[in-house]
Amino acid sequence: AKWTYSDKVKDHFMNPRNILREDNEADFHGIGQTGNIKCGDEMIVYIKVDPADLTITECKWRTYGCASAIASTSILSEMVIGMTLDQAYAITAKDILKELGGLPDNKVHCSVLGDKALRAAIDDYYGKNGMEDRIKTQSAKIVCECMQVTDEDIEHAVLEGVRSF
Ligand code: FES
Repeated sequence: AKWTYSDKVKDHFMNPRNILREDNEADFHGIGQTGNIKCGDEMIVYIKVDPADLTITECKWRTYGCASAIASTSILSEMVIGMTLDQAYAITAKDILKELGGLPDNKVHCSVLGDKALRAAIDDYYGKNGMEDRIKTQSAKIVCECMQVTDEDIEHAVLEGVRSF
């Protein structure tokens, strides 16, 4: 059925892993934020990096997202531990969906929040550590693929004072 959630999704929603609960953002080496215009939800991902081999040692997150966003980012935050920044950067929403056992079609867009914010956090790390040449995206700009909204559309809309898309 269309709205069936896998047991893994339910587990990660009910018991999300690695949520940032303390106000210790300053302890993290990279922070990335993204949003989903379709629903207005937001995601922030925080990483700690071992500078010796550029692997991720900790990955925490916070969101105003829905159950699917929570489950997706919860599982992502476990997947990336021990990965190099390059490996983590390459994770796609497809990889997350596979790990979760899928999401209902209408909720697939929710699974892109975590990996986008993660890439922004990795780029933030590069920027703070003199590795600007490794930055692949300018920033995790708010872009909604489902509605084909671009950064520029949003900028224009903001300039014109439009509040809904
Ligand atoms: Fe917004 Fe799922 S509905 S992240």
